[in-house]
Amino acid sequence: MICERCNDLKNILLSARGITKKYNVGTSTLDVLVGIDLDIYRGEILAVIGESGAGKSTLLHILGMLDRPTSGTFELNGEYITDKSDNELATFRNKMIGFVFQFHHLLPEFSALENVMMPALIARKNGSGALERAKMLLAQVGLSDRIKHRPGELSGGELQRVAVARALMNEPAIVLADEPSGNLDHKNSLMLHDLMWNLADKLKYTFVIVTHDMALAGKADRIVQLHDGKIKEIQKQYLNELFSP
Ligand SMILES: Nc1ncnc2c1ncn2[C@@H]1O[C@H](COP(=O)(O)OP(=O)(O)OP(=O)(O)O)[C@@H](O)[C@H]1O
Ligand SMILES: [Mg+2]
Repeated sequence: MICERCNDLKNILLSARGITKKYNVGTSTLDVLVGIDLDIYRGEILAVIGESGAGKSTLLHILGMLDRPTSGTFELNGEYITDKSDNELATFRNKMIGFVFQFHHLLPEFSALENVMMPALIARKNGSGALERAKMLLAQVGLSDRIKHRPGELSGGELQRVAVARALMNEPAIVLADEPSGNLDHKNSLMLHDLMWNLADKLKYTFVIVTHDMALAGKADRIVQLHDGKIKEIQKQYLNELFSP
């Protein structure tokens, strides 16, 4: 089976077709994505690999609706994204997408608990329900005894675990992580990876993880590589060959 975690390979959560992205810089145009077709299955962990500058973050930002493609369409959970207005996109994004970045992007003035609750507050969700869920998520990521700490009072690994809890706050359909362990040492990277794999197993979240870490990519259900603005699926047995000198 291609993906053990996804029960039904016909169950496509996100489907992108013909995604392109051009950047205009001065008088020149940079074609970063030249035609991406990608299906993401419900419940899978998909690793996205590729050289620096290949367009991984660009693609993730488009799939996460932080940026619009130059052309192409995609559908998330049966809804077409391309036709939505900026306001509609913001609401849909807050409900459907959880983000984890390389640097945590937590708000420094707020405690871990408040940071995790923030997406719910933005969505104007019920206060006590949100509080209970935020506490539960912080427990899931092993930080029950750090909920009052502000970001400046947490370690790098703890900050990323708070960021994962925050990403899950609104029960998103998909979690997009852009080099979530890129800034962590080996031990904390492993801890973060275990955490994401546990969450995918137990809570059935779908993860897309951009990574330079081939050990991490090798653990994913599927691996896709961005190269020359296109995407192709990489079979795991070829992963080492691809990156050996
Ligand atoms: N706003 C922008 N304007 C112009 N060019 C951009 C912009 N954002 C990214 N680029 C260019 O697009 C290309 C792809 O960038 P992107 O950040 O997606 O790469 P990446 O694969 O995530 O790289 P890395 O592994 O280093 O994070 C790069 O060459 C970058 O310089
Ligand atoms: Mg990047």
